Amino acid sequence: MIFQRYLARQLSQPTGIIGKFVLGPLWNKRNATLNEVTLVHLEPQEEDRILDIGFGGGYLLERVIPKVKRGLAAGLDVSSVLVENCRARYRKDIKAGRVDIQWGRAEALPYPDRYFTKVSSVNSLFYWSDAPQGVAEIYRILQEKGKLVLTYTCKRDLEKKGFVRYGIKTYEEAEVRQMLAKAGFREIKAIRSGDRHREFICMTGCK
Ligand SMILES: C[S@@+](CC[C@H](N)C(=O)[O-])C[C@H]1O[C@@H](n2cnc3c(N)ncnc32)[C@H](O)[C@@H]1O
Repeated sequence: MIFQRYLARQLSQPTGIIGKFVLGPLWNKRNATLNEVTLVHLEPQEEDRILDIGFGGGYLLERVIPKVKRGLAAGLDVSSVLVENCRARYRKDIKAGRVDIQWGRAEALPYPDRYFTKVSSVNSLFYWSDAPQGVAEIYRILQEKGKLVLTYTCKRDLEKKGFVRYGIKTYEEAEVRQMLAKAGFREIKAIRSGDRHREFICMTGCK
């Protein structure tokens, strides 16, 4: 029970050595396919201003940064150790104003209205304490016609693997669709895909 609680806390907000040296690299490996599919739908352009929420080990940021040559690649995470790691890694790009890494929560994004052209988030949604509020925040910080790419493991697979024991919330496709529509997103599409670990959904919507 104590171990379960510890694991639940680490998964939702990694800390210490485990957060720094274990979870980041582990997620980069295990979530590679989810992030690659997200990248395809994100279609980063040179002048885009892109935010990745819950960047973890930074797999997606690493691929977005070289593509947005005249824009901005930003990352936000609730884990201080992951934020520190990422800031150290992109110190020069941050200084040059091409990269911005912030500590924060999806539910209260520390950016002005209409600041980004695109927002992504991969396997982070189910840790948010208030997912509809997070989606509403994303809508607020997106420019008109801006795009959201929200990727997450399917409910059935999370339940099958017992992740619900660790405090993870699971969402049906219809629930997430409804959340996006309620926030104001249009042209909502759900692309189902999978890898050897799970089935996942990549949901896109436009402001
Ligand atoms: C399973 S990891 C996924 C990491 C990465 N996106 C990937 O695909 O490998 C979930 C990430 O979401 C972050 N996170 C959890 N709750 C959050 C919240 N409320 N707001 C922002 N990030 C959050 C965690 O710290 C963690 O880095």
